Amino acid sequence: MSKIGTLYGSSLGKKAIMALSGVVLFGFVLSHMVGNLKMYLGAESFNHYADWLREIGYPALPHGGALVIARAVLIGAVLVHIWAAWQVTRLNRAARGQRYVKPHTVQADYASRTMRWGGVIILLFIVYHLLHLTWGTVHPDFIHHTTNPDGSISTQAFHNVVTGFKVWWVSVFYIVANIALALHLYHGLWSLFQTLGWNHPKLNPWRRRLAAGFALVVTAGNISFPIAVLTGIVG
Ligand code: HEM
Repeated sequence: MSKIGTLYGSSLGKKAIMALSGVVLFGFVLSHMVGNLKMYLGAESFNHYADWLREIGYPALPHGGALVIARAVLIGAVLVHIWAAWQVTRLNRAARGQRYVKPHTVQADYASRTMRWGGVIILLFIVYHLLHLTWGTVHPDFIHHTTNPDGSISTQAFHNVVTGFKVWWVSVFYIVANIALALHLYHGLWSLFQTLGWNHPKLNPWRRRLAAGFALVVTAGNISFPIAVLTGIVG
């Protein structure tokens, strides 16, 4: 196989790995947003949902067992996604140094730069988000759980989200990070469809609409939460 053939093949392989891990992460952000919509049904419903997440699979799995598995899959997908992104960037840079490889268009350069910076912002957001709403380290009024009269434990996720988002700059940060996530999802889904081979002038407008539609649904849901708390709709 020629050098270009090898380069092309491996770059495509890396893109497929990025797409596959991207699908796992996309599935997570979509289901996380849908689950969080329970906030609109009130504290009891939302906390019950958070408790249920810890009970999935019980008694076949121990309490919180499914959550541990989901976390491991999620961390694995994030690491694989970052590794593949780094590899694709490296290969693209190497390809640019080869005179017979078609130079990148300005648009493609802009998109990949946006993806890289968007990815970094999302990663920083996730670290902050875990410190804020999972561990409560940076939350001024975090309640880990309360113990019921029968000895069972109840999560206080609703209280944590509402008191967390009442701090206006925290809400602004969530909104900004979710706009970065929207652009990342849009470009990511667009590229995913390309990796799947949906690259035909007739299909392209649908690709764009589908990618924009998915990104918009996830982002609109996520952004609605801090806005709902700040405006008093939830709380
Ligand atoms: C405004 C939108 C969001 C809200 C209100 C929200 C809310 C929450 C809450 C309450 C938890 C703790 C759940 C629990 O302990 O039961 C959580 C965990 C988490 N969130 Fe979010 N989230 C939002 C957006 C996001 C986004 C955009 C991402 C990823 C890009 C994300 C990733 C995570 C992760 C990885 C966890 C930890 C899951 C675990 O291992 O328990 N969240 N979120």
